[in-house]
Amino acid sequence: MLTYHLRGADKGKVKGNESAEDLVTTTYASRYAAVDIPKYRLAEEGVPSNVAYQLIKDEMNLDGNPELNLASFVTTWMEPQADKLMAEALSKNYIDLDEYPQTAELQNRCVRILSQLFHGPEGTTGVGTATVGSSEAIHLAGLALKWRWRARMTAMGLPADKPNIVMSHGVQVVWEKFARYFEVEPRYVPFGRDRYVLDVNTAVSMVDENTIAVVGILGTTYTGEYEPIAELDQALSELEASKGLVVPIHVDAASGGFVAPFLQEDLVWDFRLPHVRSINVSGHKYGLVYPGIGWVIWREESDLPSELVFHIDYLGGDQPTFSLNFSRGAGQVIAQYYNFVHLGRQGYRRIMANLDQVATYLASSIKDMGHFELVGDRKGLPVVCFKLNEGSNYDAYELSSKLRERGWIVPAYTLAPNASDQVVLRIVVREGLSMDMAELLVEDIDRAAQALSSLGRSGSLSSVKAKKMPSQPSKVHARRIC
Ligand SMILES: Cc1ncc(COP(=O)(O)O)c(C=O)c1O
Repeated sequence: MLTYHLRGADKGKVKGNESAEDLVTTTYASRYAAVDIPKYRLAEEGVPSNVAYQLIKDEMNLDGNPELNLASFVTTWMEPQADKLMAEALSKNYIDLDEYPQTAELQNRCVRILSQLFHGPEGTTGVGTATVGSSEAIHLAGLALKWRWRARMTAMGLPADKPNIVMSHGVQVVWEKFARYFEVEPRYVPFGRDRYVLDVNTAVSMVDENTIAVVGILGTTYTGEYEPIAELDQALSELEASKGLVVPIHVDAASGGFVAPFLQEDLVWDFRLPHVRSINVSGHKYGLVYPGIGWVIWREESDLPSELVFHIDYLGGDQPTFSLNFSRGAGQVIAQYYNFVHLGRQGYRRIMANLDQVATYLASSIKDMGHFELVGDRKGLPVVCFKLNEGSNYDAYELSSKLRERGWIVPAYTLAPNASDQVVLRIVVREGLSMDMAELLVEDIDRAAQALSSLGRSGSLSSVKAKKMPSQPSKVHARRIC
């Protein structure tokens, strides 16, 4: 006997019996289509699986379409073979190393491959681990830097109670979290009016004996530009020579770690630079795996303090682990390895070249429309950042909302301090945004801009504002989107 509440005029309790009819009828012909399913409490009785599936699937339609979500760096498309491998691994817990030693082996292979890709020392077998994303990777890398700094200070007989970390205002929110959670003073290098990456001289002037590291971002969340990491390395060498301060660099290569090695092969940003001691990269961004995987790689074993590493025995061997989480799915690690085996360097190169071509097309088309100005140097990630011309009679948030009417998710946000009066829009070009789609996007941007500017002239702009739905973009800070 099942009891449900009817809506509206019929509200009240009705009783229904399970019958053969219930089992053969479609979801929408069944009584479940006309009753409230409890949303905020665990009902005494459940509903049939096909009904539960359909009701939840229908609710999920209110989410944006991931393929049209140009706000996110995170992968929304993988090949069917990767989907299959991931589905087959759904029941595997990555941390059960004893039970799933081959998953651990694939993780170790990925660490080694990444260490080589980032020019780790000759002959290294790789020091690093899979993480849930760059955020966990950054917390782990930050902890290792803090521990190493403390050991250096203690060895010199100096107090080690006021650690700081120097980074540009372009950092993603995870760095603020790291600083707060692990009690490290964040020292932010401000943006200039037209500079959205780290200023090396200012950064070095903020460094002292308590600096655990300077962060360099390979592809900022704001504009996709690369920070000048080789220049930073050089400046820190000079500081070391003049003042004897030894300060490591951590590279936040969340997005660029899988772009630069294939698109800007001559750019020196990784372990080829002596001060670069650790690097994080998101497997789920340009590593081309679905959400839930990142990596942290250390230059060599001495960069990862042994006190932070726990050892688990499996099959008589030793598997070191360093993580903030314990249980998690194994599928992402397997899918990352699949990409390495399947794509190889050439595959990644072709994909990144295609994305860059699409980004270049978008940038030049947007510029040619006459409504917009490009922001950033476009030499880094395949990202297009632009703002409205001065004097426009509508704003970037309105354009973002208007594009949403066609399904496109193109976020509008303010830049960091010193440039925070500027509101920009950003398109992240990811696998799945082919030239064919990009052409449609260009048409839609042009159409939206024309519609908004003519509305503005006729004085009916307020009607556009009034139509804003709660789910439409609000004024967000780029540090909080990724
Ligand atoms: C530069 C940078 N660092 C860190 C992160 C956090 O990465 P994740 O989402 O993989 O945790 C992002 C996310 O966009 C990012 O752009």
